[in-house]
Amino acid sequence: MAIRDILKMGDARLLRHAQAWPADQFDSPALHALVQDLADTMRAAQGAGLAAPQIGEDWQVVLFGSPDLNPRYPGRPLVPPTVLVNPVITPLPDADGTLREEEDWEGCLSVPGLRGVVPRHARIRYQGFDALGDPIDRTVDGFHARVVQHECDHLWGKLYPMRVRDFSRFGFADVLFPGVLAADD
Ligand code: NI
Repeated sequence: MAIRDILKMGDARLLRHAQAWPADQFDSPALHALVQDLADTMRAAQGAGLAAPQIGEDWQVVLFGSPDLNPRYPGRPLVPPTVLVNPVITPLPDADGTLREEEDWEGCLSVPGLRGVVPRHARIRYQGFDALGDPIDRTVDGFHARVVQHECDHLWGKLYPMRVRDFSRFGFADVLFPGVLAADD
């Protein structure tokens, strides 16, 4: 329906704790329109995910994944296209009981041109609802878990640079990775 402007870091609207979508408003024109705008905007920006606050919508709605490998993430495993509303994330321990973190590079459409190494929970369970109000309950790891944590962070007012611990591994994509196709998420 519409490609929307993506807010950039520094905009106070990215720092809000987004509102839960009303339980009696699933499968509504308003939610479907919001999801369509997120999808159109994410596709136009070639993003791996997009959260409603990034287009100025103060709701707990995120979109992520794609039907195939993202050409900007060569070799990265497929993440199913997902609309996730009112999510809850639970970090899951490894078999030995430890809550493990993994580090990897991230970017964000709200932080264009930059990349940083971000620690994330290696394995999570995420729960929530799709746009119809049907429950989603998945246990995932790796890149899938990273994408979910990054997108849901937008709902709590967190941008990935706030989670960078080692700023020697934070900088401009075209400098860090010269010659590599650089995109912003
Ligand atoms: Ni982001």
